[in-house]
Amino acid sequence: MNKVKWGVIGCGGIADRRTLPGMMLADNVELIAVMDTNKEAAERCKEKYNAKYAFDNYEELLALDEIQAVYIASPVFCHKEQAFAAAKAKKHILIEKPMALTSEESVEILDACKKEGVKLGVGLMMRFAAYHQEMKKLVSDGKLGDIVSMRAQLTCWYPDIPGNWRQNKDLSGGGALMDMGIHCIDLLQYITGLKAVEVTGFAGTQTFSYNADDSSAIVMKMDNGAFAMVDANFNIPDAAAKCKLEIYGTKGSIMAEGTISQVEGGDVSVLISDDSLGYDAAQNRDELVPVKLDVELGNMYTKEIESFGNAVLNGTAPEITGEDGINVQKIVENAYKASETKIISELK
Ligand SMILES: NC(=O)c1ccc[n+]([C@@H]2O[C@H](COP(=O)([O-])OP(=O)(O)OC[C@H]3O[C@@H](n4cnc5c(N)ncnc54)[C@H](O)[C@@H]3O)[C@@H](O)[C@H]2O)c1
Repeated sequence: MNKVKWGVIGCGGIADRRTLPGMMLADNVELIAVMDTNKEAAERCKEKYNAKYAFDNYEELLALDEIQAVYIASPVFCHKEQAFAAAKAKKHILIEKPMALTSEESVEILDACKKEGVKLGVGLMMRFAAYHQEMKKLVSDGKLGDIVSMRAQLTCWYPDIPGNWRQNKDLSGGGALMDMGIHCIDLLQYITGLKAVEVTGFAGTQTFSYNADDSSAIVMKMDNGAFAMVDANFNIPDAAAKCKLEIYGTKGSIMAEGTISQVEGGDVSVLISDDSLGYDAAQNRDELVPVKLDVELGNMYTKEIESFGNAVLNGTAPEITGEDGINVQKIVENAYKASETKIISELK
């Protein structure tokens, strides 16, 4: 099988913990070089994942002719400069979410990739989880009827860490909502095929002393009239929240815990209501028994890398595009604006 020759920019948390291990399981990958401004991190990943080269600057990595695609997993404030340089060097780009500090910058990245004729994919890898794929199928097969309501939650415990880039909104583009809520927004749109048309929300810093939001809740009106809620927090102990995903339609529901995660797993119940049921004044909720969804679990990072690699090898569009990344970033920005101005805004 043909393989894509990869370079990795940023060998920190997500690259070393998830994406590089996932990459090693992909069948269309050859890892050529890794780069991190922390040379030790680059050297460590070179040894661990059997790359040919380790660099402490992206220029040397991009100068390697053999590299066809780069995975950008550096802090968000570095993304624009590195994506511009990679596009100019004619490397296809898989970039981590959020694509850049602002949606304007993300649009500039997409334009640069178009101009240079390279592909741009975005690391919204939770779409590839088998449970999410199966949920999407249930919804598109009409099993839930018309979608009327949904909610997605992603939280973690993220106390003050002095000097941390993610806790400084000028370096990260935003806190819990931009960092984690963005996955939830993307999943709700992806699974249901609906698009947000209006957004409002709240974001604030309630528990910690950093300037990025540690608490957020947003509401979206979708293009079929359904309402969707997303909550993302940095101030809930990891074990205390189950990262719920709930989708309700006129014929039933999907209720999931733990599927919104970096590791495939969780627990999903599906309840399909009988069309012949009339109005029940007693509102008996026990008549129907939910069915547990059964899927074959995999590695969403492996699937993400294989999918982008196939787009490169086959000359097709990436499954998760720059436009997708810009869309969810705009929703987050509209919610931040709503939190300040107390208005509901249309998504443009
Ligand atoms: N999709 C996911 O599952 C997921 C999960 C976590 C983070 N992310 C995203 O991945 C990106 C990185 O996040 P992280 O949690 O790995 O951050 P991190 O801070 O753990 O790691 C970042 C790494 O980049 C290095 N670095 C700093 N400046 C650099 C530069 N100029 N060039 C190259 N490397 C540089 C640091 O030394 C560090 O090793 C962010 O965009 C983040 O939102 C995605």
